[in-house]
Amino acid sequence: MARLPPQVLVVFDEAYYEFVEEMPDTLRYMRDGRNVVTLRTFSKIHGLASLRIGYGIARPELIEVMHKTRQPFNVNGVGQVGALAALADEEHQRETKELTDRGRAFFEKEFAAMKLRFVPSVANFVLVNVGDGLAVFRALLQRKVIVRAMKGYNLPEWVRITIGTMDQNRKCVEALRRVLGS
Ligand SMILES: Cc1ncc(COP(=O)(O)O)c(C=O)c1O
Repeated sequence: MARLPPQVLVVFDEAYYEFVEEMPDTLRYMRDGRNVVTLRTFSKIHGLASLRIGYGIARPELIEVMHKTRQPFNVNGVGQVGALAALADEEHQRETKELTDRGRAFFEKEFAAMKLRFVPSVANFVLVNVGDGLAVFRALLQRKVIVRAMKGYNLPEWVRITIGTMDQNRKCVEALRRVLGS
């Protein structure tokens, strides 16, 4: 940010904001009058991905430009009611964060035991090196476990595993052990 020309617009994607304990304060750039937009979503900790709703925070001049170019009716009424309820539901957010923290610790412990390399995470997924990401994705799919192969991100050896309930996490690790063992 210090080296960026002031006319350049910076977009911060904070989809995992609520999962991060020491989140950098990006709103201070907006307060300083910089050209930034901070994006948040209801798709992650709030679990409302199907309602297609999120929000952006920026200076009014920037928001005004976006209003001129955005699609009409881009957010529906049901989504807005759900989003407002979700903001107030701090217990759900706390429970989801706790479940995710537990699940992440479980996956990381299991990966270490299986001697798999992984990228330490603070979000609701873990990136893990399984050798052949696409093959492991397909084999897990056969066992009704869906992960994301990262070939499209130029990481052919890796898969991204989303943290679920502890039952789902255990099922995933069990399937992974079988797939990698065979
Ligand atoms: C970094 C990041 N940003 C944004 C999104 C999607 O957010 P939305 O459902 O609000 O489009 C995702 C979901 O996978 C994500 O991982």
